[in-house]
Amino acid sequence: MAGGLVGGYGTCTAMGARYLFPAQPRALAWVYAARVADIAVGASIAFRAPTGERIAIARQDELGGADDFVALSSVCPHLGCQVHWEPQNDRFFCPCHNGVFTPKGEAVSGPPAEAEQNLSRFPLKVEGGLLYIEVPVEKLSGTETRLVQVDPDCGERLA
Ligand code: FES
Repeated sequence: MAGGLVGGYGTCTAMGARYLFPAQPRALAWVYAARVADIAVGASIAFRAPTGERIAIARQDELGGADDFVALSSVCPHLGCQVHWEPQNDRFFCPCHNGVFTPKGEAVSGPPAEAEQNLSRFPLKVEGGLLYIEVPVEKLSGTETRLVQVDPDCGERLA
């Protein structure tokens, strides 16, 4: 019985601590995504963040900057199905329950629209013809997060 009380109070204390001291915001970092020239207008690529998040990066214009692209979570905010870019319909689409999103990720039809659940959007930048995305990264235990920049042609470490 004493063990049960200690366990019960311990659980309540842990839950109270989480309420009083919510989790820290996740660390973000710029990560190489692709060469700009490798993504044609209307095409999209699947990107996976270091934390495992699935992201669709779609090219919607060819002005030469980051505004040509949009990076949205591939996970439908309704029930988590895979969302994909449909260039012929100029939309992101979730086939599970016909969820429709604008090219900027705003829900306009289906259950996500009814619940006002848009796709999460990620910042992008272009440097030297390379496309970078800002995503959450996992910290190595007790150390600074370290990213390694790799040459997209040969895979060698740049810095
Ligand atoms: S899971 Fe995408 S619309 Fe239901």
